[in-house]
Amino acid sequence: GEASGEPPGFSLSSRVQPDPSGSETCVCLQVEKHLEPFRLSLEKLQDVSARLRKDMLRGLGKHAHHRAAVKMLPTFVRATPDGTEKGDFLALDLGGTNFRVLHVRVLEEEQRVLKMDSQICAIPQEIMLGTGEKLFDHIAACLAEFLDSQKLRGQTLPLGFTFSFPCEQKEIDKSILIRWTKGFNCSGVEGEDVVRLLKEAIHRRGDYDIGSVAMVNDTVGTMMSCGYRDQSCEIGMIIGTGTNACYMEEMKNVKRVEGEDGRMCINTEWGGFGDDGSLKDILTEFDEEVDKTSINPGVHTFEKMISGMYLGEIVRLVLLKLTEEKLLFKGCPSEALLTPGSFETKFISEIEEPDSGLENAKKILTKLALDWDLVDACVARLVCDTVSSRSARLCAAALATIANRIRTNRGLDHLKTTVGVDGTVYRKHPNFSDELQAAVRLLAPKCDVSFLISEDGSGKGAAMVTAVAQRLALHCMLNFL
Ligand code: GLC
Repeated sequence: GEASGEPPGFSLSSRVQPDPSGSETCVCLQVEKHLEPFRLSLEKLQDVSARLRKDMLRGLGKHAHHRAAVKMLPTFVRATPDGTEKGDFLALDLGGTNFRVLHVRVLEEEQRVLKMDSQICAIPQEIMLGTGEKLFDHIAACLAEFLDSQKLRGQTLPLGFTFSFPCEQKEIDKSILIRWTKGFNCSGVEGEDVVRLLKEAIHRRGDYDIGSVAMVNDTVGTMMSCGYRDQSCEIGMIIGTGTNACYMEEMKNVKRVEGEDGRMCINTEWGGFGDDGSLKDILTEFDEEVDKTSINPGVHTFEKMISGMYLGEIVRLVLLKLTEEKLLFKGCPSEALLTPGSFETKFISEIEEPDSGLENAKKILTKLALDWDLVDACVARLVCDTVSSRSARLCAAALATIANRIRTNRGLDHLKTTVGVDGTVYRKHPNFSDELQAAVRLLAPKCDVSFLISEDGSGKGAAMVTAVAQRLALHCMLNFL
């Protein structure tokens, strides 16, 4: 910590410490020994950022790209909104906490995007792990039900499809799934064009149709929905079930797409950072365990250290280890603590709440049938804080890499930019966003980065992408005539 010359305010020691008096001092030191691998110094974070910078370059390259852990996928989104977009759109949102169908209206006069209505459809576990055909039939059925409830059947509205998985995009309406991430694993979809699968499912029913389709990653939707309000928004970031970011890159650097002029939004898929082993030195035994027991071992290493799908499980494994070492709960784990997935990520936010945190910790430990005392509750808090802080700092390192890249791309000494953000971890955790911002300031000192929480980026943003694509197509046509 101190040795790396960290400025005050970036203290690596935690805010929450068990009472260091008497016999607890010893517990505290021993606990600390197990938490130490989670504490990344500023120097280490700078190093992580430098590695990501190299990986991003590799991902952008024409040939090196195939082997790149960070995929840097072209999105065919070439412009952020200019405020002249308008119309009615449908949007689908798959890959976050819920699957949703939306009806969105873009109003030009007021420069506003209105969500007319939306509906959440559950996706049962057996569909998430079943065949692709079943998944798309289910999606088409949800859409049909929604169109009926909105009396929209018969209007062939353009559709923005927020599909939050890594896709190799060929055009705005041709998008091939590279691989499933997060909790999905449907057969027969990897390597296929998702737009085709959706259209085929709709045609199988034959009772309604949709207009043109635009495929959108949630990061892109988030950037675009913020871009309507703030035109300096050129980065989109998600810290939710998964984590990822996109940003506007110079076309001349996007070697895999023809053309030198202008910019294109790149979906970094930074969740895959480390999949080639480049983060080995910072992985803890707990990260390795989370990876091994996941449905996709070896895939999305960086995401597994950061996002909501995994944070609770990391905390559970640490608590279990400390129990085995007799540093917690008198050495007795409960059935619940031994059960994978039992420590929900939302518990972390509740336990770290500044006022009610300790009380919440006690309630949660009781719910997990653990025999706790006050020191245990404090240690549990410390573990949550340590794991969520690492997540925030790793995100900061990655975001700083992008901000620095945009700055140097444009030959600027100083860059002022806005990030559109969304995701449950960012929104719900009591100090995640503060920690993230503080660390970005240190890691990208020449960038002035503001954060704008996206108002339903996956819904409204998808409509926005569709609207911008239509505007550009119209311009193109007019130029041609
Ligand atoms: C996963 C997906 C990515 C998405 C992110 C956030 O990392 O691969 O496409 O943007 O989750 O939802």
